[in-house]
Amino acid sequence: MSNQAIVVEDLVKTFKGDVKAVQGISFEVEDGEFFAFLGPNGAGKSTTIQVLTTLLNPTSGSVTVSGFDVGKDPISIRREIGVALQETGIDPSLTGRELLEMQARLFGFSKHDAKNRAQELLDLIHLAEDGDRKVGKYSGGMRRRLDLSLCLVHRPKILFLDEPTTGLDPYNRNAIWDEIRTLNREFGTTIFLTTQYLEEADQLADRISIINKGKIVASGSSQQLKKTVGMDVIDLSFQQNEDAEKAKEVLSSWTKDYRLTNGELTLYVDNGAYLLPDMVRKLDKEGIPPISLNLAPPTLDDVFLQVTGEHLEEKAVIKQEGVVSP
Ligand SMILES: Nc1ncnc2c1ncn2[C@@H]1O[C@H](COP(=O)(O)OP(=O)(O)OP(=O)(O)O)[C@@H](O)[C@H]1O
Ligand SMILES: [Mg+2]
Repeated sequence: MSNQAIVVEDLVKTFKGDVKAVQGISFEVEDGEFFAFLGPNGAGKSTTIQVLTTLLNPTSGSVTVSGFDVGKDPISIRREIGVALQETGIDPSLTGRELLEMQARLFGFSKHDAKNRAQELLDLIHLAEDGDRKVGKYSGGMRRRLDLSLCLVHRPKILFLDEPTTGLDPYNRNAIWDEIRTLNREFGTTIFLTTQYLEEADQLADRISIINKGKIVASGSSQQLKKTVGMDVIDLSFQQNEDAEKAKEVLSSWTKDYRLTNGELTLYVDNGAYLLPDMVRKLDKEGIPPISLNLAPPTLDDVFLQVTGEHLEEKAVIKQEGVVSP
């Protein structure tokens, strides 16, 4: 038995009309590892998951899951994996319990075993009280928990989760995080998760690949990725775009490492707390005081910004961390 759960080499997936969804990606996931694909809309996350779970054929490259080749042995792979896709077609007129029992029967459980397994899973994902309600009446968070439980029925070794918390509020997001964490830590399930939320990748994953426009642009643990950015990140915003441009010139003697996006100036420096007062004084003197400023250690958004030149999430989300007033 190999100890690589997933091995992907030079995977390319092109759709009709010359859409290059995945453009030559390579990565490995070890048995028991929690691995995340972090990337924005259209990055190629769902396409990759669909190839890895044998739902789409690769255009070129090689993919093995649990030691089996996706082209040669899709049936063996399907026995070992659980998949929760972004779009699921669940019959809203059935109850959570009925759906779980049906899924178990499809996987060859006896009637008696299917009943027991359904109850076990309802307990595991904290849906026991709502098990006999119709799924059409579930909240978004309950639906996602049921989606998760449906792909656990046959006790898969590897779990593929495509944006499992997109659109959920923080309470429900946290509940799902706890459940996924438990599966990984207590049951040793290998997890391949995709997300657009940097905090999700940061909190959960042992290792992260950042994917953008069909290519992996950075890989490593959260710590390793943040270390590539440097020590501190200073964000300055200004009344007008021209002010940010001018501020960049004024502050250029402090650091050559900066990004300018939509009137926001982001500076990467080694000793932010020490430099910041001088910087603000200088900007004041030049008549371009910043309207907001923020000093914080790097986040995965800073990593994303450095490798792609764009922000991954809305600035407002990042701004909540460690705000410093002048
Ligand atoms: N069946 C398809 N036919 C044609 N183009 C497709 C198909 N599926 C995906 N694409 C295109 O491939 C690219 C990658 O799409 P994909 O769904 O993999 O992105 P994603 O990272 O999952 O995005 P999101 O976060 O929005 O779910 C996009 O440009 C998309 O329009
Ligand atoms: Mg997707």
